[in-house]
Amino acid sequence: MALSLARMMRLALVGMVAFTSVTSALPASPIPRSTVQAPDTDPFYQPPAGFASKAPGTVLSQRKVDVAFFGLIPLDVEAYQLLYRTTAIDGSAIATVTTIFKPKNAKLDRFVSFATAYDSSATKCQPSYGYQLGSPQNSLISSVELLVIEIYLALGYTVASPDYEGPDAAFGPGRLAGMGVLDGMRAVKSFKSLGLTDNPMVVGVGYSGGAIATGWAASLQPKYASELNLKGWVQGGTPSNVTGTMYQLDNTAFSGFLPAAIVGLSQPSAYGAELSPFISKIITPEGQKSLDTAASECATTDLSAFFEKSIFDTSFQTLGDAFIFDPTIQSVLKQNSMGANKDETPTAPTFVYHAKKDEVIPYADAKKMVDSWCSWDANVKLTTYASGGHATTEIIAIPDAINFVQNAFAGTTKSGCTANTELGSVLNPLALGVELEPILVKLIDGLFHLGDQDSKFKADPVAVLKTNL
Ligand SMILES: *[C@@H]1O[C@H](CO)[C@@H](O)[C@H](O)[C@H]1NC(C)=O
Repeated sequence: MALSLARMMRLALVGMVAFTSVTSALPASPIPRSTVQAPDTDPFYQPPAGFASKAPGTVLSQRKVDVAFFGLIPLDVEAYQLLYRTTAIDGSAIATVTTIFKPKNAKLDRFVSFATAYDSSATKCQPSYGYQLGSPQNSLISSVELLVIEIYLALGYTVASPDYEGPDAAFGPGRLAGMGVLDGMRAVKSFKSLGLTDNPMVVGVGYSGGAIATGWAASLQPKYASELNLKGWVQGGTPSNVTGTMYQLDNTAFSGFLPAAIVGLSQPSAYGAELSPFISKIITPEGQKSLDTAASECATTDLSAFFEKSIFDTSFQTLGDAFIFDPTIQSVLKQNSMGANKDETPTAPTFVYHAKKDEVIPYADAKKMVDSWCSWDANVKLTTYASGGHATTEIIAIPDAINFVQNAFAGTTKSGCTANTELGSVLNPLALGVELEPILVKLIDGLFHLGDQDSKFKADPVAVLKTNL
């Protein structure tokens, strides 16, 4: 639900060259990949006995880690991972991990919480695994979004990136992701080794799948974690309505996100108790194969495995079009609509941005969410990008997103609701100041070469995958 593959791979290459300011040279000898263990076998991910009695956000264990771009190019930052207690949909205790990147000369009164779009329901796609030096790169969207994290690091922000899908990698359930983000912020705040001041300011950021987590964190924060010193939220390409998103994605190049979301919503930490028995009743053997793939693979594999397929087809489940009207499904969908309840309105300044012609996540649903929030006295800046689609907008909007983060920390965002439309589709390399110009120039350079590959991807994703991987 974020960058298309061609874009990801191109940006990855561009990024390897671009981020020399925060990455050091390639290691002289190859890193033994066996030293990094996957979440299923790494004991660090297992919470200690009795953790359920701890308050949400409590740090259960910690470690120092080496982090790297694409598992390969070490980042010259101090990095830690925290296992912390968070909450499942049914209110029970679960534990997940956040990865913290602290740059040299970090501002100590603040941090950014970055929800990366891993968009998958397999534990090997957890960002905490992929960020580690020597880790195999399963979750390519997160790998590329590390470039965006690197921009924040270059600006002096400590960044925390939580595994907000929780211990069973549940992609889709917004409330789970929202609590994962908020408890991750609590864990960072209490982690003394960072040297942060008491109750540091925080801004939450995320695009696409990362905006499910960020938008829900923004929605739940006033009630779930009101003590946090929240200064703002930045959410772009927001899948605010799962029903609308489902119809838009079905039978397209991005349909592969749907089996992943069905698996995610059916995890024990999500709606498994209600949803699993129902899905087992209606799923066909072919459909089950797709779910098995989604439960064991990351987004890129999921997309090619379910390319232009439909979850409404009776080869996938026996109810066909009627499946969505089942009361169990309806109840889950209803609980996953952002902007549906007045008492779940963000109170910190919120920047929402979206491409008018977003081909992956419907613009109209995000607009509706903003209209509801604004009718309930929220403080929202809505920017509509008139040209460009889902992936382009993630890049083009970077200067706007970063400016909003800086204004939010400074307390200089406008009050009330404002809306504007941006007509241009070119990233301004000077928008963030001369120091970052080289990074942004590389991003633009990448973008201009993408259009061609992108259309090829739509026609034949497997061929593009093969030439790019
Ligand atoms: C979500 O989208 C569906 C389908 O477009 C629509 O029927 C429903 O009313 C929407 N829900 C909200 C809360 O906007």
